[in-house]
Amino acid sequence: MKVLLIGSGGREHALAWKIAQSPLLTKFYAAPGNPGIAEHCELVSLDIDDHSAVVTFAQDKQIDLVVVGPEAPLVAGMADALRSAGIAVFGPSAAAAQLEGSKGFTKDICARFNIPTGAYQRFNNAPKAKAYVREQGAPIVIKADGLAAGKGVTVAMTLDEALAAIDDCFEGAFGEAGAEVVVEAYLDGEEASFFCLSDGKTLLPLATAQDHKRVGDGDTGPNTGGMGAYSPAPVMTPDMVERTMKEIIEPTMRGMAEIGMPFQGVFFAGLMITNKGPELIEYNVRFGDPECQVVFMRLKSDLLPLLHASAVGTLDQVSAEWRDETALTVVLASKGYPGAYDKNTPISSLPDEGGETKVFHAGTALKDGKLVATGGRVLNVTALGKTVTQAQARAYDQVDAVSWDNGFCRRDIGWQAIVREKA
Ligand code: AMP
Ligand code: GLY
Repeated sequence: MKVLLIGSGGREHALAWKIAQSPLLTKFYAAPGNPGIAEHCELVSLDIDDHSAVVTFAQDKQIDLVVVGPEAPLVAGMADALRSAGIAVFGPSAAAAQLEGSKGFTKDICARFNIPTGAYQRFNNAPKAKAYVREQGAPIVIKADGLAAGKGVTVAMTLDEALAAIDDCFEGAFGEAGAEVVVEAYLDGEEASFFCLSDGKTLLPLATAQDHKRVGDGDTGPNTGGMGAYSPAPVMTPDMVERTMKEIIEPTMRGMAEIGMPFQGVFFAGLMITNKGPELIEYNVRFGDPECQVVFMRLKSDLLPLLHASAVGTLDQVSAEWRDETALTVVLASKGYPGAYDKNTPISSLPDEGGETKVFHAGTALKDGKLVATGGRVLNVTALGKTVTQAQARAYDQVDAVSWDNGFCRRDIGWQAIVREKA
């Protein structure tokens, strides 16, 4: 099978690493890729915003499957362009990608198909939104409707914070994404991520994970794209997984098909496990970053046939096997992230990898043959262990073997699960 992978982050490095292990693979390209991805395939300089260029490349090279990593090209319709040209693609249509592209769209799907989620209202102006927030009181959650790189959500513990967040959205802090605002009830509980493949009519549950969104130890400081993750998430017991499938994922898949937007790709459900059970916080329509780094470390099966089955509608014919171990990843980020940070700082060495550890590149480049950090989140240092405690110790041993002066990381990734393990 000839494969083209779209993207350049840690998620795409994990996808590339896993796809490259497939005996079905005959030729592998990635665009734009990064130095880690380049270890597994040929990088091509395609402008991924130019969908017709991507289609032409896929046709010229007789690509059998395009795997789209990030959400932006999906929301912009890359999968539609490829499918119209008869090319199989892993990832949803633009219509189905609204599950991530519009929080209001997703809330309406939840309301229509009875999917448990926080009560909500949609607003297109500040006075009405503020009146509703005053009526509901704090804590309350304010969300810019559109894609805001994970920054459009304010969990307001006070009324003043909520009112300020509404002003931010309507005054353009998130650009177009904030032109509409969703105000949502605050959900109390433990968060978990759940990943499930869909081909539009069949589901294949993959795995659970937990992310650490805040930049600082003890879950303090501003939100980030994710500073570390582990899989599985202990809060996702077999019963919770079954309820999530029945109460959230299955009705979403059926509902999306019913409204003429069948969902092909991965449902990445952000869940709050409340005292009532699983409730949907949000959907993403692509793999989590850094969650998929830990999910794929645990996947024993060949990933390529699973992605292909989701793309061509044969998920009922495949299955996935998992390692029992826990995988944990620590994100090394540039000092200053999620604020401003220096670019092109040198990474002078990376640890030797064994079978149980892997360093994924998230924001690196080669400059004059030397590895430099170019992004906010730069490396994902990942390890397997029999327990979360062991996986954590192995991951931090590897972190300590990275020589990069401008890097920092959280030192407590996995803490919630380790507290449980010690209890
Ligand atoms: P999102 O970008 O929708 O994932 O939201 C970012 C983070 O805000 C989530 O991971 C949660 O920690 C928090 N959050 C979002 N919605 C709610 C809610 N209704 N109740 C409590 N926390 C929330
Ligand atoms: N780590 C959160 C995300 O990928 O959206």
